[in-house]
Amino acid sequence: MQMAHEAGASVALPKGMEALTVGEIRHWTGRTFSFRTNRPASFRFRSGEFVMIGLMVEGKPLLRAYSIASPNWEDALEFYSIKVPDGPLTSRLQHIRPGDTVVMRPKPVGTLVHDALLPGRRLILFATGTGIAPFASIIRDPETYEKFDRVILTHTCRELAELDYGKHLMAQIAADELMREFVGDKLTHICTTTREPSERMGRMTDWIRDGRFAAAAGGPLDPETDRVMICGSMAMLLDHKALCEAAGLVEGSNSAPGQFVIEKAFVD
Ligand code: A2P
Repeated sequence: MQMAHEAGASVALPKGMEALTVGEIRHWTGRTFSFRTNRPASFRFRSGEFVMIGLMVEGKPLLRAYSIASPNWEDALEFYSIKVPDGPLTSRLQHIRPGDTVVMRPKPVGTLVHDALLPGRRLILFATGTGIAPFASIIRDPETYEKFDRVILTHTCRELAELDYGKHLMAQIAADELMREFVGDKLTHICTTTREPSERMGRMTDWIRDGRFAAAAGGPLDPETDRVMICGSMAMLLDHKALCEAAGLVEGSNSAPGQFVIEKAFVD
């Protein structure tokens, strides 16, 4: 029987759950943090998928859906989380330390995957807040660059510091010889803030409407060439979905691939 730790004591792990050991933890802002864990040898996933992870609380697993932010070739798993002050899980999870146990139900699922999109030339990833997590996996996956000539990642947050996780990812890709080779010059990162002055300001939905997105990305949304993935709050998803549909793109799924796919950034 696998064991997990709860408040320093060993507790039995329910059937079908994996215990993960927490490694590096980084607090990016007062509202977000990321952490890494070991990856069980038998655990496979497609870039962009999510799993249920959490903590043992009073002998029971308290789980939430989390996108896997690490690429599927990496030995470790990475998660990027919001801190909700009175959130049942994140109010506890934000205090984890290296060596602590996080539990996972190892059944990855989701629609932000290559299989749910038809072939295309430009892949556009629209994210707000912690909605960047599944794209952190996708932009580090060589398959992305085998399938697309250009990859545009947009990330909109309230404040500048909330863009740091994405900026760090870009720096990590640029510093890694292997990733630099398969990414080449295909990846463009467009980040904006909405509540703190910065070089680029405004919601990406407004950028799409007024032509700033087309100028920065090298052309407006085009159903012939573009495939789109969207991840953020429910309001953000609905607004981006409407803009994709207005441009003539059709929503896809795992069973019927299309031109755009959406998924809610989960924990809030
Ligand atoms: P804004 O500051 O104008 O609300 P949140 O933390 O609330 O999820 O927001 C993350 C980012 O997403 C913020 O910059 C926010 O802008 C933006 N945002 C919120 N709702 C939408 C929407 N419906 N469409 C596009 N961007 C949105």
